[in-house]
Amino acid sequence: MQVGEGFLQERYIPMQHFNELHRGSIENLEEFWAEQAKVLDWFKTWDKVLDDSKAPFFRWFVGGELNASYNALDKHIKAGRRNRAAIIWESESGETRTLTYYELYREVNRFASVLKNLGVNKGDRIVIYMPLIPEVVIAMLASARIGAIHSVVFSGFSAEALATRINDAKAKVVITADYLYRRGKALNIKEIVDKALLETPSVESVVVLKRGENGIKMVEGRDYYWHNLLEGAEKYVEPVHVKSNHPLFILYTSGTTGKPKGIVHSTGGYLVYVAKTMEWAWKIRNDDLFWNTADVGWITGHSYLVYGPLTLGLTVMMYEGALNYPKPDRPWEIIEKHGVTIFYTAPTAIRMLMRYGDEWVKKHDLSSLRLLGTVGEPINPRAWKWYYEVVGGRRCPIIDTWWQTETGGYMIYPSAGIQLPPLKPGSTTFPGLGVDADVFRQDGSQAGPNERGLLVIKKPWPGMLLGIWGNDERYIRTYWKRFSRPEEGVWIYYPADYAMKDEDGYFWVFGRADEVLNVSGHRLGTAEIEHALVLHPAVAEAAVIGRPDEVKGEVPVAFVILKEGYIPNERLKLELISYVRETLSPIAAPAEVFFVNKLPKTRSGKIMRRVLKAISTDKSLGDLSTLEDEASVDEIKAALEGFK
Ligand code: WT7
Repeated sequence: MQVGEGFLQERYIPMQHFNELHRGSIENLEEFWAEQAKVLDWFKTWDKVLDDSKAPFFRWFVGGELNASYNALDKHIKAGRRNRAAIIWESESGETRTLTYYELYREVNRFASVLKNLGVNKGDRIVIYMPLIPEVVIAMLASARIGAIHSVVFSGFSAEALATRINDAKAKVVITADYLYRRGKALNIKEIVDKALLETPSVESVVVLKRGENGIKMVEGRDYYWHNLLEGAEKYVEPVHVKSNHPLFILYTSGTTGKPKGIVHSTGGYLVYVAKTMEWAWKIRNDDLFWNTADVGWITGHSYLVYGPLTLGLTVMMYEGALNYPKPDRPWEIIEKHGVTIFYTAPTAIRMLMRYGDEWVKKHDLSSLRLLGTVGEPINPRAWKWYYEVVGGRRCPIIDTWWQTETGGYMIYPSAGIQLPPLKPGSTTFPGLGVDADVFRQDGSQAGPNERGLLVIKKPWPGMLLGIWGNDERYIRTYWKRFSRPEEGVWIYYPADYAMKDEDGYFWVFGRADEVLNVSGHRLGTAEIEHALVLHPAVAEAAVIGRPDEVKGEVPVAFVILKEGYIPNERLKLELISYVRETLSPIAAPAEVFFVNKLPKTRSGKIMRRVLKAISTDKSLGDLSTLEDEASVDEIKAALEGFK
């Protein structure tokens, strides 16, 4: 199916223009990116566009110097855009705050001074654990201004998850708030920080933004209120000139082991990449109001709520609450009220909103919208159609963007800013400029048209990760071992996604090829959830798999072997579910727990998730020749009876 009525004429323009630009960008990679890098203000120009001498540790714009906060703020102030809105924020209860570029600039400077006074130096790590409020952006840019490295931890994560990340990054300062407001309730998140800090020796101080009226516990000599610290702050802090490859931030994401990976992004390459992909994907205009519903705790928030839009001097909409609270028309109400022109969200949110029915959308005038977007997981044709017809009124192309925490920015997406291709629901269309993507067979040969294989990126790009914090070996093993041929100087990036190119060259991405789940667009390692489960005193062994879910895309399902003396019952099941919720994150909580006496394993002891998956979805079991103990399959089947 191809859809394009509202933008029919674009359907018939041959894609020649884009294809030529694309070919040129890949063939002359360095020249191409050198030209794009002009989107930034550099204090010092680079000597070398791409240094591949230490591949796969590729380094972009080597020798260049810049500052991210200067590019997001000072640059616009100097260009006469000081009174332009940078952030329009709305709370769940409907309270609105607008920060102009000048206001944001002032706040960032003052907070940069606060960080300096707390002893934060260039290269030090600060962890930000906050709700989705403008102060997160202030903290991030203040960190960048003094050359510190921020690591934002999603405020839905537990104390344990927060502590793990603080310790891995050895953060000196934690920035948080007293309360987070969600679904009409106030949650004291400072309490979570206090719990995390019981085992984080690196942390010297905590900055707390006061939002609520009810007092919270403050630790003398460690905790300070944001507003109190501002009292002694300077009004201007010189932006530190950092090297292009100085880390701007670390963002933790799930991998195939229980330990999250600290993805490190650069300053120069990353900023060039997010600013340019923002332009190319959205055909950015001066009067745009870009609403990205992602939380800043994920890469989507970093790249396209903060760094991309602000580097370009755009206005972003930021909304703190749940999309269906207090009523299911919350997003449509916000779009109408503020005149949002681009709405960017995840398929899981679209499916959730679709369930409430069209009336909720139709109550509102959504004529300000000109583009819609999705990210995080494949979108199913039904949701695509609803989004296109009901939300976009058949006028707004859907920009489906494939990328990852590691890629920094969009990789495979319709480049509406260059030439919009005819859209096919569920396909993310074509690799963007400067991106050399392909689909390989398991053996590394190229897959043919319509043949399912593994997605690969064959050339480096400026937005790519610098590495995994403190773990070079894991970086090489995870992303470069699968298909690279170092002896021939061939480096192939492996994203671990199944994909296909169809007969027209359109890319279709199907989902993870590793043991990582995608729950509501959030990445979760099955190993992380298993690790959380076995910490419970009743659990001897656990295996977690993903089960398809109509709204969330995928939900975790756990198979648990209990320790001697524990009796499997409903109460224990619920207890284990809430245990994961509390010790890891609500997103990670299993939708179902099955008690079993054995798990299907290979002879080498590896859990055969494929078998668990097939059983839980009733599919054919495939080849079981490597299975250690056939009995366990029947047993798991028996355990599943009664749940279907
Ligand atoms: C994984 C990356 C990057 C933003 C949010 C998630 C899946 C992402 C799409 C899409 C199909 C997608 C992939 C990818 N994914 N976007 N448009 N179509 N799948 O970032 O947490 O790093 O997860 O999300 O499986 O590998 P992330």
